[in-house]
Amino acid sequence: MHKKIVVIPGDGIGPEVTQQSIRVLDAIAQQYGHKFTYSFGLMGADAIDKTGNALPDETIELCLNSDAILFGAVGHPKYDADPAATVRPEQGLLKLRKSLQLFANIRPVKPFTALNHLSPLKAKNLEGVDFLIYRELTGGIYFGNKSLSEDGNTASDDCIYTSSEIERIAHLAFHAAQQRRKKLTLVDKANVLETSRLWRKVVKLLEAGYPDVAVDYLFVDNAAMQLIMNPSQFDVILTENMFGDILSDEASVITGSLGLLPSASIGNGGALFEPIHGSYPQAAGKDIANPLGSILSTAMMLDHFGMNAEALRVRAAVEWTLENGFVTKDIDPVNFYFTSTIGELISDLVQDKIPSGLNPENIQLRKSTII
Ligand code: IPM
Ligand code: MG
Repeated sequence: MHKKIVVIPGDGIGPEVTQQSIRVLDAIAQQYGHKFTYSFGLMGADAIDKTGNALPDETIELCLNSDAILFGAVGHPKYDADPAATVRPEQGLLKLRKSLQLFANIRPVKPFTALNHLSPLKAKNLEGVDFLIYRELTGGIYFGNKSLSEDGNTASDDCIYTSSEIERIAHLAFHAAQQRRKKLTLVDKANVLETSRLWRKVVKLLEAGYPDVAVDYLFVDNAAMQLIMNPSQFDVILTENMFGDILSDEASVITGSLGLLPSASIGNGGALFEPIHGSYPQAAGKDIANPLGSILSTAMMLDHFGMNAEALRVRAAVEWTLENGFVTKDIDPVNFYFTSTIGELISDLVQDKIPSGLNPENIQLRKSTII
């Protein structure tokens, strides 16, 4: 199969982790006889520095003509510290999501047993944890009108949802639940917010069409607590844009590191794959970032292409590295391997270049993994 992939490395550690994903994709192409061609687009602080625009039109154009987008991260501290900044790196990502109508963001949360000791939760609470967050991505408070009064003392962000925006992602979440443990949890704040009451009404109406799916309704404050107390109760969580943003970061630490979680954003045709971690500027350029969030995002991309065996192979290789202690600094601050070493190791694993009786001492820091 031939697929055209647009790569948007973005800011901070984005370029480094994305580079490892390309390496893994190339290894998969080699192993299975596929062809992946890449074109590169600008977005974020990098794009602002080079063009003055967080998302140049050429990037949108490239993305519209692609089979999938592999994205790194956006964000830079110089904008975070400046509330008066008129252009911001994040605007690029939001505009891209909106332009491509990537209305559903899917974030799987499944801890790796080898990393249980890093989780803030007790091992017994990690048993059976395996859920998907379906986060609405192109509506709500992120995209409503924003205002700041002339005197600078009053600000507002409108939160707007229409029934059809809720329906289209709810259908995807119901379908996902049908393929899994058949449970859907809508997370909202229907005791306070009108938009949340609309979410509840729409989801309740759809329930009848999915009689095999059990639906639960949770207020977001309770959901935040339940994620820590009893995360194995969840199968598919459906929620609006901002609640999904917050809960997915919370959920990610259950797995031991924010660096591990992948995501897929889909909608009317387009598909974008990105780790959920941000640009982590403190680590940029040091070859210490965890590339697994990005590499696991490419596994989601392969699934999206219908290449399920290929995706499984990538996931198995990732699991192998974790089980055998080949981890980056976020996982083991003392005995760690570099970003590029892990990327190389996973590429070798998917191509069967690593003998099963591998001696870890043969993989030296920064040295080739081919032995
Ligand atoms: C995410 C990020 C983005 C978001 C930022 C970078 C705009 O936090 O993808 O979760 O809030 O959606
Ligand atoms: Mg976020």
